[in-house]
Amino acid sequence: MKKIKVGVLGATGLVGQRICSMLVNHPWFEIADLTGKTSVGKIYGETVNWLIPSEIPDKILNIKIKSSNNDKLNSDILFSALPSSEAKQVEGKLAEKGHIIVSNASSHRMDVDVPLIVGEINSDHLKLIDSQKEKRGYKGFITTNPNCSTINLVLALKPIQDLLGINKIFVTTMQALSGAGYPGVSSMQIIDNVIPYIEGEEEKLETETQKILGKINQDKIKNATFPVAASCNRVNTVDGHLLSVYIETKIKMNLNDVIDAMTSFKGFPQDKKLPSAPLKPILYTQKKDRPQPRLDRLSGSVPGMSITVGRLRKGIDDKSLQLSVLGHNTIRGAAGTNILLGEILVANGMVNQ
Ligand code: COA
Ligand code: MG
Repeated sequence: MKKIKVGVLGATGLVGQRICSMLVNHPWFEIADLTGKTSVGKIYGETVNWLIPSEIPDKILNIKIKSSNNDKLNSDILFSALPSSEAKQVEGKLAEKGHIIVSNASSHRMDVDVPLIVGEINSDHLKLIDSQKEKRGYKGFITTNPNCSTINLVLALKPIQDLLGINKIFVTTMQALSGAGYPGVSSMQIIDNVIPYIEGEEEKLETETQKILGKINQDKIKNATFPVAASCNRVNTVDGHLLSVYIETKIKMNLNDVIDAMTSFKGFPQDKKLPSAPLKPILYTQKKDRPQPRLDRLSGSVPGMSITVGRLRKGIDDKSLQLSVLGHNTIRGAAGTNILLGEILVANGMVNQ
């Protein structure tokens, strides 16, 4: 198959770098455009502050950085790692011109005509694209992936929702520093400390979860109605968000059935054997002190693309569950789910080749 030309918007940022590193050896995609703002016109390898623990890949070292607005971009798919404030302006204009936008930014996630996708859960929500194109007059379209903590949460919730139904959720996050980009939180703030606030994060966990776990009916999503109460903390780890989750279920639960539902869980990406799909999206650990960020964040057949669930136990009664969830925030929580969405669009025949 001839490779599909793709670009990365905001390629110098932390998530942009992750997307680039996952695209350079991709079997279907080939990087044609990298965009930036202050680095426009510079050579990628000379200007990027590369923070991923490997060399900058040769294939992108000498690419000249373009502007997202004015330069002609040659890519069919644009993976967007823009800061959200910028994404709002830029992504719509590019979709209007005919590009397919696969965005990690939050600015369009809750738009009623924009799909918010985690491949294993709600690929069927991509049906929204027809009405989006019609309503907005776009030649291309915009799709989005959720917030980093939300992705890890909903992957753990989906098998439970299907098995038992969900009445309400309490979630407390312990989020890694890389989620704030570079330089992010200063060392004087975070060493010997935990910061019990991340702007906008708790609202995203609440609203995005309901949209993703909602059902599509013709051209509208009917959001899930269970309430989600989130408390988000920034902690002193580099990568890997850890979540403590309390779930009230609609019917009585049996722990072995829950474990079976989690370990056998799979979706469209696994059925289609997409390149970035891990064989098992959810790994279950029985070890009493796991999952841990440093030990479990790169688990799975595609490193960083599986979440690890542990400490699964009964809550205060037979209709409640407690568990810990860990996922790599810049891989499964951002770049990896973003690229997986691009692969789903190709597998669905939504990208001209
Ligand atoms: N076109 C292209 N790039 C643009 C742009 C535009 N119109 N406007 C801004 N950018 C840029 C920045 O200027 C920078 O490019 P430059 O080097 O040419 O100046 C690039 O995008 C990345 O900058 P920045 O966002 O500051 O990178 P970062 O590493 O500090 O932060 C994120 C990365 C992903 C954390 C940050 O973009 C963000 O907060 N995104 C939303 C939340 C998120 O996804 N968090 C990560 C979840 S784990
Ligand atoms: Mg920055």
